[in-house]
Amino acid sequence: MKILNVATLIMLQVAVLVPAIAVFAGESGEAVSFSRDPDRWTINTRSTTHQIVLGRDGDLAAGYFGPLSGTRVFGYPEYDNPPVIGTIHREIPYRGGFMEDDPLLEVVFADGVRELELVCTGHETGELDGCPYLRLDMKDTHYPFNVSEYIRVIPELDIYEKWLVLSNTGAEDILLENAGSGSVQLPAGAYDLIQFGGGWGREFLRQRTRLTIGTKTLSARTMKSYEHLPFFLVRPMGDNDEMSGPVWFGAIAWSGNYSLDFYISPNNRLQIKGGINFWDTHWNLKAGESFTTPKMVFGYSDNGPGGASLRMHRYMLDYVLPQPNASIPSKVLYNSWYATTFNINEKQQIVLARQAARLGVELFVVDDAWFRGRNDDRGGLGDWEPDPVKFPRGLGPLIKEVKSLGMDFGIWVEPEMVNANSDLYRSHPEWVLQTQHRRAHEHRNQLILNMARDDVKEFTIAWLDRLLSENEIDFIKWDMNRSVSEAGWPGENPATARELRIRYVQNLREVFAAIRGRHPGITIENCAGGGGRVNIGLLELTDQVWTSDNTDPGDRMHIQYGYSHALPAKTMVNWVTDEEWHNKTTPLKFRFQVAMAGNLGIGGDITSWSEEDKALASEMVALYKDLRPTIQFGDQYRLRDPFEESRMAVQFVSRDRKSSVLFTFQTLETLPGADGGYSLSDRLVLQGLDPDAVYRVKTDQGVSKARGEFLMAGGLSLPLRGNYSGAIAVLEMVE
Ligand code: DGJ
Repeated sequence: MKILNVATLIMLQVAVLVPAIAVFAGESGEAVSFSRDPDRWTINTRSTTHQIVLGRDGDLAAGYFGPLSGTRVFGYPEYDNPPVIGTIHREIPYRGGFMEDDPLLEVVFADGVRELELVCTGHETGELDGCPYLRLDMKDTHYPFNVSEYIRVIPELDIYEKWLVLSNTGAEDILLENAGSGSVQLPAGAYDLIQFGGGWGREFLRQRTRLTIGTKTLSARTMKSYEHLPFFLVRPMGDNDEMSGPVWFGAIAWSGNYSLDFYISPNNRLQIKGGINFWDTHWNLKAGESFTTPKMVFGYSDNGPGGASLRMHRYMLDYVLPQPNASIPSKVLYNSWYATTFNINEKQQIVLARQAARLGVELFVVDDAWFRGRNDDRGGLGDWEPDPVKFPRGLGPLIKEVKSLGMDFGIWVEPEMVNANSDLYRSHPEWVLQTQHRRAHEHRNQLILNMARDDVKEFTIAWLDRLLSENEIDFIKWDMNRSVSEAGWPGENPATARELRIRYVQNLREVFAAIRGRHPGITIENCAGGGGRVNIGLLELTDQVWTSDNTDPGDRMHIQYGYSHALPAKTMVNWVTDEEWHNKTTPLKFRFQVAMAGNLGIGGDITSWSEEDKALASEMVALYKDLRPTIQFGDQYRLRDPFEESRMAVQFVSRDRKSSVLFTFQTLETLPGADGGYSLSDRLVLQGLDPDAVYRVKTDQGVSKARGEFLMAGGLSLPLRGNYSGAIAVLEMVE
């Protein structure tokens, strides 16, 4: 092939990149403008500007990313003359030349050369799935390697999705040692990072840390990650206000080995990048092939973390979650796990189903242990047929009963796992992740199927398809209860075997897509021992999340509060259970109130509930159904912070601002309040209402009327009395 030299390529790009301004309206109808000066591209959304600068040597520099037209405020443009690459921060920070930032792209060519030298060859603007995009094309100056960066923009949400398409146009393999998705540079300054995570039963807890010179990384090496939600907020050091101030946020749409890196350079520039974590993996880019990285989402809010989550929630509901489910209210579910664990049978599940229906439940879910050989966690995984002892007539009679009660039917599966004590393992021991001459560690007595193998992928699609075709199943809860060890693939060519961690996720995504394609009516709940695998990549293919095995309402206040920074309440499933997580019970009403601030479910042994409890449960389920459109589709505002005081308050406002629901909870009445005193202020300053409208306000105390303006200034008093108490206020616009 003809290799172009740098000078020719620069001439080429100058010819291709004529100055242009393109204005596009995405699905929202809101315009985004891409303008192309001779030496830079500028993208403007509703409240942001993002620039990419063309260097004198044809490389691309990372330009400004921040508040609209803030280039002046932040001292930009800093590249008054077209810069020379090597002295600047790159838009695609690759290994090669003089590069100071954390590399996003590292390749090795067949002759052993490990450096890239890229120049821009052109750009394209257009529309992709209803949203405008800018594509910047780059080419190596010597080797047959092309890089296209896509920047798809959600203008009304100030969100930029970035990803790369890497193409080998030559005849020899190119090794990708690192291929991240996207990078941005923030204006020079001092920043804090806010992250969410913890561990099993402690998911999504907020932590804040100062970013100092060097790199801070949020990452997962395996397909499971309790420690972080792959999402971040970054804000100027010390800023604390929930609803004001600049906040940059982002997330990676990859359900496995991800890395989000925050690098402060010696000149105090913050580079944020994210993508697949290439630890213990790589990718052979074969001749003529391309590799597309997952999307890295970057966003900016000029109204604090509250504004960031408002944008993220709309992004998830309008652009990411599978349709049509994302637009249909999620059903109130009952899940049998805590009531019956492994000891289940048809008769007992029918008794539970009848009781659930009487409470107003709309979806009955049989959890673990319905399949052959599953009497405890030591056996059965892999043998996905109804257990002949527990369900001698198959699942049919139970499903028929559930349907006749007017409910949907759901079932638990854990398709990526196998017990050694199963027929599947006995017939295919080679299908599990393993490394020769090494012990295969079990966790919860289970091994992991090597989903990177196409035969395992096809097997998984086939049995799930059969299960869903032979039974009227509306919902699956997809669990994943252990993390990866010995991620080997004996017998496979070692180069491909090393791609396992990437191929696993790619194939897993194909399984989800195939199941959704063949069973379009299905709803899928994503669970990994609770919230161990929550990310926007999996939420492109699943509908909701089993948030945490920890159902203690006091702990849940924190878990739910953290979760809400990234993801909407519709996806956050909360069950009311009888579990005594801290050897204590809390009032049933309080448990319901906390669970209702998300996607309500019930998971207790409802056959043992008193008549009084059942009456309360029916009342709360009915109330939830009334409030559900506002909670599930509305905008969410966090009014009181449980990490600061023993209270939490959260408000939902419908997008047309006609309805609002306010929840307030406290664990302990006498702990210090956020103001440092023992304040028992019940006053909550509301958000998001129409200031000129009059709202009817309904609480346990009675009904009153108030103007939106007053409720958002003077606030609403919603008294709480006693430990573990909560209150709900329902607002409707009346004038
Ligand atoms: C872990 C999940 O988080 C639970 O809800 C339950 O489904 C169990 N697995 C079943 O084994």
